[in-house]
Amino acid sequence: MKRIKVEIAPGVKTEFVDRDRALAQIAEWAERGTRFPVVIFGPEGCGKTAFLRQAAAALRELGYDVFYLHPLDRVFAAEVDDPDVKTLFLDLMRKTLEDEKWSRLALAVFDLTREILKKRRRKIAIIADDVFQAIGLDKAAAYVKGLLNTIEHPVHDYENIVVLVATSEGVSRREIGRHFWAQLRPMWNMPKEGLQQLYEKLPGPRPPFDDVWRWTGGNPRMLGRLHTAGWAAERVVGDVLREKGLTAEFVRRWRRWLEEAVEDPETLWTGDVPEELVEELEARNLVVYNMYDRDPYFWIDQPPPQRDPELGIGKNAAWQTPIHREAVRRALRDAASS
Ligand SMILES: Nc1ncnc2c1ncn2[C@@H]1O[C@H](COP(=O)(O)OP(=O)(O)OP(=O)(O)O)[C@@H](O)[C@H]1O
Ligand SMILES: [Mg+2]
Repeated sequence: MKRIKVEIAPGVKTEFVDRDRALAQIAEWAERGTRFPVVIFGPEGCGKTAFLRQAAAALRELGYDVFYLHPLDRVFAAEVDDPDVKTLFLDLMRKTLEDEKWSRLALAVFDLTREILKKRRRKIAIIADDVFQAIGLDKAAAYVKGLLNTIEHPVHDYENIVVLVATSEGVSRREIGRHFWAQLRPMWNMPKEGLQQLYEKLPGPRPPFDDVWRWTGGNPRMLGRLHTAGWAAERVVGDVLREKGLTAEFVRRWRRWLEEAVEDPETLWTGDVPEELVEELEARNLVVYNMYDRDPYFWIDQPPPQRDPELGIGKNAAWQTPIHREAVRRALRDAASS
């Protein structure tokens, strides 16, 4: 399987590294198809988009017609053999780039898939990254149902079909999880060896790898941000604090529970914690809540450890990265001293 090129920090290009098990999972899907749309969620910046792009390239290599949709980044592609479908897609894309009605392209894959299969039995992949923001969170479940129908009730026969969807958004996960229409699969940050491979690609002087591991918890975007910030972890923490809107009012309101959760995120699960706080932390992409059994069957790539107090990982609840936790810790400190 050829590995794609990615950019880990501005101007720092590398190839897609590690994630060997995830690549093997792509090969399995290619072989058998996905019986349900696979909906992937996980910490922001853990590598979902990179993985879907890698999956798109790999499936194409394996003879699939591939639709790839990433409305947030304005990237759409139809790597298909049928020239008529390709033309239809490009026309739609041109129109969409003008009027910015991104949902149109997301919905068009249903018709385009049918159009391809009308002529010949084929292998088709639909890969949709962060589409729910474009089509509206309230329509996330309906969209997934449409994808399931494409698999279960095709108008024309197919040889195989692979449907992969990623979402970086806790609300859509809940919405989709209420139905039996998808296979929800979490993906965690990179394992230590994987992050180390990326770390070694970064130019210039670097702090010891063990420090970088403890800050990022294996999150490749945090690695890139640290590099860009000249490895000043406290600056990245400051940025995250502001991005997440961790105001004095917010942390004062929830202080009692947040103080416990920065010590041990599992208290969000086992403790007497208001539902509203959990929702806030999920919506701000600070924690992953309701984590899965660590049986690799349920995960994309390798699952995280059952518990890692240093990285802020509990059995059922975890900080997305240690830097996310550190931002909350600092906000608590700032609010106490103001
Ligand atoms: N396996 C990998 N090899 C090399 N670089 C990677 C890998 N996975 C992720 N990256 C890099 O890490 C950064 C974050 O990854 P990516 O954008 O895929 O995360 P994400 O999970 O899609 O984030 P979000 O939740 O915000 O959508 C990107 O710069 C990406 O190129
Ligand atoms: Mg992404």
